[in-house]
Parts: sequence; C-alpha cells; structure tokens
Amino acid sequence: MSKSIKLAILGLGTVGTGVVNLINDNLAELKRRSGREIIITEVGTRRQRDDIDPSIIQNDDLMAIAASDNVDIVIEVIGGTTLAKDIIMHAIKNGKHVVTANKALLAEHGNEIFALAEAHDVHVAYEAAVAGGIPIIKVMREALAANKIDWLAGIINGTGNFIMTEMRDKGRPFEDVLVEAQELGYAEADPTFDVEGIDAAHKLALLASIAFGIPLQFDKVYCEGITGITLQDVNYAEELGYRIKHLGFAVRRNSEDGQQGSAGIELRVHPTLIPQDALLANVNGVKNAVLVNSHPLGQTLYCGDGAGAGATASAVMADVMDLVRVLGTNDHSQRSHHVPHLAFMPEQLSDTPILRAEQMTTGYYLRVHAYDNPGVLADITRILSDAGINIDAILQKPAHKLGQVPVIILTLPVVESQMNLAIAKIEKLAAVTDKVVRIRLNELAQ
Ligand code: HSE
Repeated sequence: MSKSIKLAILGLGTVGTGVVNLINDNLAELKRRSGREIIITEVGTRRQRDDIDPSIIQNDDLMAIAASDNVDIVIEVIGGTTLAKDIIMHAIKNGKHVVTANKALLAEHGNEIFALAEAHDVHVAYEAAVAGGIPIIKVMREALAANKIDWLAGIINGTGNFIMTEMRDKGRPFEDVLVEAQELGYAEADPTFDVEGIDAAHKLALLASIAFGIPLQFDKVYCEGITGITLQDVNYAEELGYRIKHLGFAVRRNSEDGQQGSAGIELRVHPTLIPQDALLANVNGVKNAVLVNSHPLGQTLYCGDGAGAGATASAVMADVMDLVRVLGTNDHSQRSHHVPHLAFMPEQLSDTPILRAEQMTTGYYLRVHAYDNPGVLADITRILSDAGINIDAILQKPAHKLGQVPVIILTLPVVESQMNLAIAKIEKLAAVTDKVVRIRLNELAQ
C-alpha cells in the first residue's frame, strides 16, 4: 500500500472533535475507499486533551503545525477570520493542501486565498463550509458542470431553520430555542451570525461564485435575518397558505427575459413566504436544503443536516478523501486534472454586476395597521395600483387595540424601488398607525 496520508486538525471544538470521532469510527472504511492509510499526526489545541490518542502530537502553536513536515493536509476548524487566515496562508505557502469549514473566511478573503493556492499548486477544499453534510459544493462543481445555472434557493442556516421550526410548531420563544441550538453545537461562536443572516450570506456568496463563475462578493449580498419575525406574521402567513422560511437566493436576471428589473445577479438572504406545499416549506429543524434550477437538467433538490458535529465532519472527510486520491497520483501539480476552486478557470471569472437591493424583484407580504375607517383599504390599494403593483391576495382581520385593523396584502413580483415608494406613501396616510411590515415572497422555488 502507498504511504500513509498525514492529517493535522487545527481546532478541537464541535467540528474538530467530530472529525477525530469519524476517523476513529470509520477507519477501516476510509482505508478501503481511499487505498491509503489516513492518520492524524498532529492536533492544534490550546489545552492538552487526555481523550486524544497519545501517539498524536498536541500542540498550541498552530503556525508550526501548518508548516510541519509531519503533515500532508491541514484541516482548519478553528473558525474566525484573523488567525485562521494567517494559518491557512502559511500552510499554502508551505505546500500543504487545506480543508476548511470556514465560510466566513472564504466568503470574505477567498479570492486572495484561492489565488495563493493556485500559485502554490495546492487545493483549498471547503465542502463543510456550506450546508453542513450536504455535498452541495461537489454537486455544483462537478455533477452540474455541464449545466447553465439560472438560480438557486436554499435554507442554508441550520440554527435559523431550527428556531423557525420550533417557534411555529411548538410556539416556543426565540431565545429558548437559540440556547438549545447552541447546546447542540449548531450555532456559530457568535450566534448573531445565525439569526441576523450573516452566516447564510457567507454561504450564499460561495454558492453563487460556483454557480455563476463570479468572484466572491460577500459585501454585495443583501442580508436580513429572522429576529424581526413575529408569531403574528407566522400565523397570518399560515392562514394565507404560506410558511415563513429563511432563504438565500442567487438569481441570474437577464434583460431578454422580459422581466421588469435590471440585468445582473441578485444575491439575497431574507425571511421568505413560500407556499405550504412547496418542498422547501417542509424542510424542518436543523435540516438545510438547496434547490438548483439549471439548464437543461431542471430543478434538483439537495437536503440533509446543515450543522452539527457528524454532518460537518462527514463533509470535511469527503474533501480529505478527494485529496488523498489527488496525492496518490503523484502529479498533483497538474492543474488540468483539478476542478478549479470556484469551478471556473480563474482567468474566466465573469464580471456580471450584482444588483443593488432596490433593483431586485420579488413579491411581498405587507402587514399594514390602520384605523378601521371607511375608505382606508381603498386608499391603500389605490397607492399600490398607481405604482403598478398587482395584488395577489388580501386579508383583513377584525379590529384589535384601539379600533385598529391589521390588513395583510400579498403582491405579485415588483422591483423593490417601486415597493419602497408605495410603502412610503401608505405610511403617510392619516389612518395608518405603524410602520408597514414587509416580508418577501418567493416566486421561484416550488
Ligand atoms: N451555524 C451554522 C448553522 C453551522 O447553523 O447552519 C453550519 O454552518
């Protein structure tokens, strides 16, 4: 048998420990499938762990491990964007292949990291960075390589989906469910990344790059989280036959489509109303799902656990196994044998513009609170019709506090700048008492 492959695992938190456990549990399987012995030679950890095999070197000097002769592949699972970046750059410069679960780092600094990896003829593999255990990076890079991708839509934050599911099914308060998600190892070190949509935006930037062959542009992702979603809106949505999910969208808008908006790419994460019978509406708990619409294949859905030790370790080790095979060829410097990091040849990345929020096109759920006076509904609908906004459904609830009525309106797709103008006018009506609540509607993923 060929020589063993030596791994270093940097970080022994939820994911790092999951990787150690996976290797211990599935050692024979890994060896059988790769034809090589895979051994952990070093782990990077701040405090000595007595549950680690004594033959493995434990070291708190992560930079030293990244350059060690005793290591072929560096697995970075410490997270964060400062030390992790330095370590990965150092490992690449020392000719190591890197496997990382670090979506924040790649979304923010991936262009630089991948360029350095190209220059040093090494791989930076990141299956675990997006949608946990779902092999969506491999699917997009390889299985869909012959397709033109028109759009993708996904539930790509397990914590957010877990929270929304528990709130809806059990009426549990937001904070309680978040604490449970942290205990279960789903949430980010800073859970605001989960609930404010930042984690999903990181993952969307990665998916969009692979889908459309564009550079990583995390700073251009429109990002809204779930903290503003109330049980009231969850219930009204249900009454209208919809469910609210936190979704990420990457959509190619072509001018020749005859659509209202500008040509370019929409990158957006936000709470979204989807019909209750849509597949994505029924992806619950910590599950993630990504729906990809490509030509000529059509729509395909990929679903599984999006967070947690086992799911993420599975993705990390899938990348390791790929690299083990590359290392086995003895010619891993030959780029033509590799799928490029973003699935497109680096010199062929596209400069298609990313649309600004006000250029994006979606339907809307609007909740307007107004005094129950004659003509109020007519005033609101006239403003919408003057703006060319087509109403799809309308629901008025009985008056509650101080004679105010909540009016719920669903619209057909409209360019956001039009909707902004219409909402500003509605909020100026004397009978309207509060800011209008708006949640986007999905017209793509069924
Ligand atoms: N905090 C992330 C989530 C972990 O909840 O999806 C996986 O990336």
